[in-house]
Amino acid sequence: MPDTHPDFRSPLTLALSHALNHLAPQQDQSVAATATLATLRQKIDIPLNQTGIDAETVLNDLVSQVQGGIIDSAGGRFFGWVIGGSLPAALAADWLTSAWDQNVALYACAPAACVIEETAGRWLKEVLHLPSSASFAFVTGAQMAHVTALAAARHGVLARHGWDVEHEGLAGSPAIRILTSTEKHGTLVRALRLLGFGERHITNLPIDSNGRLLEDSLRRALEADPTSPTIVVLQAGDVNIGAFDDFARLIPLAKKHNAWVHVDGAFGLWAAASPRHKHLLHGVELADSWITDGHKWLNVPYDCGYAFVADPAPHHDSFAHTASYLTHETHARDPLDWNPEHSRRARAFATYAALRQLGTTGIADLVDRTCAHAHAIVTRIGSLSHAEILWTPQINQGLVRFLHPGKNATDQDHDAFTDRIMADILVTGEAFFTGTSWRGRRAMRVSVSNWQTSATDVDRVIHCVSQVLEKATTTIT
Ligand SMILES: Cc1ncc(COP(=O)(O)O)c(C=O)c1O
Repeated sequence: MPDTHPDFRSPLTLALSHALNHLAPQQDQSVAATATLATLRQKIDIPLNQTGIDAETVLNDLVSQVQGGIIDSAGGRFFGWVIGGSLPAALAADWLTSAWDQNVALYACAPAACVIEETAGRWLKEVLHLPSSASFAFVTGAQMAHVTALAAARHGVLARHGWDVEHEGLAGSPAIRILTSTEKHGTLVRALRLLGFGERHITNLPIDSNGRLLEDSLRRALEADPTSPTIVVLQAGDVNIGAFDDFARLIPLAKKHNAWVHVDGAFGLWAAASPRHKHLLHGVELADSWITDGHKWLNVPYDCGYAFVADPAPHHDSFAHTASYLTHETHARDPLDWNPEHSRRARAFATYAALRQLGTTGIADLVDRTCAHAHAIVTRIGSLSHAEILWTPQINQGLVRFLHPGKNATDQDHDAFTDRIMADILVTGEAFFTGTSWRGRRAMRVSVSNWQTSATDVDRVIHCVSQVLEKATTTIT
């Protein structure tokens, strides 16, 4: 590199201008990708240059290389999976996070970032109505939050059996069983595998018609094996219909049997912030650990998730680490004692900024608004001919299905027709929905988590879906 003052101004100014171009609302910009895989590879997969290139050229090239391959998941007409956008303050704070480039492993190397994390952790517990004494960790997402909280759970339940898992490992330990529902998210299983639990120790208990784990089946499972170390995993918002388990009944039942209760609230835990929806979480504060995401409903840029543990001791004992070359702090919080990572991005800056930009009433409003939009999209699609509602949202997730117009159409025909309509919607570039198989049928998921989704977006999406549906049914009949 040249021995001159580094020029950050030009590339950062250029990046700002490209970012603003991307974020500016454009009437006819496609929500979906428009470039094919072959085109993207052809533009991006070039030989690595031998000599360096100036930063502006690199950036300008990058923007043109990725063109057509950046989906508008940050925009208001994106309803795929469960994906939030970025609030302006959170996005800007995330840029500063990169500029400041703090390693938030230790207070000694990131003093302000560590205090931001302490404060944002406290605010999150307040907004989510979790116990103020709970410990927490900022991680990449819900899956790593599961890993963090379940490491504490593993420590906790084995310690009750006199087993020190950090010292002994899992080989030879009493087998831990996991009791959860059939509707659990796949990241829970991945987290359990990473922690060495083994999938065969997971019991998937049945649910009722509202997607809630059946109390009797949990009771029977707990009573069938009263001595095994047990972790019960409940859900605050399952990925398909946003179902909430009955925490007020199930948590005391599990606790009576000495189980650790962990709650997957990747998005649903945010319902606690809304006076209108918080009843869904009644009793959730009695659990031992909880996880949620920042990059979903809070609209913090990727990647950002949070783990909370009611008793800080097993959490700390699972991760605490010292080394003579490190500088440990006795009065401040050293995040590496609570996190699976060592060196780490200071992702709490964006959370701190998002929480402040919204305030508690703004978070409640975001939750209520997105729930109302999800409800409107599902019910309005459901009122179109050749469409039906499979699940009316109680929060921000719902399901619809499209019906093949053929006289003797079978369930398989409806499944294929549903997939076809979803694909046709994607091609219009007007909206982005993704599918699922739910209770044996294909469905289009309607998931609204973006702060930008407006009533105008909802109207536009309904217009698009009705046109696509009309065209498809007239070509078939
Ligand atoms: C209920 C639930 N749990 C966990 C996850 C995984 O989240 P992440 O991708 O942040 O790990 C999701 C993602 O949609 C989810 O809906």
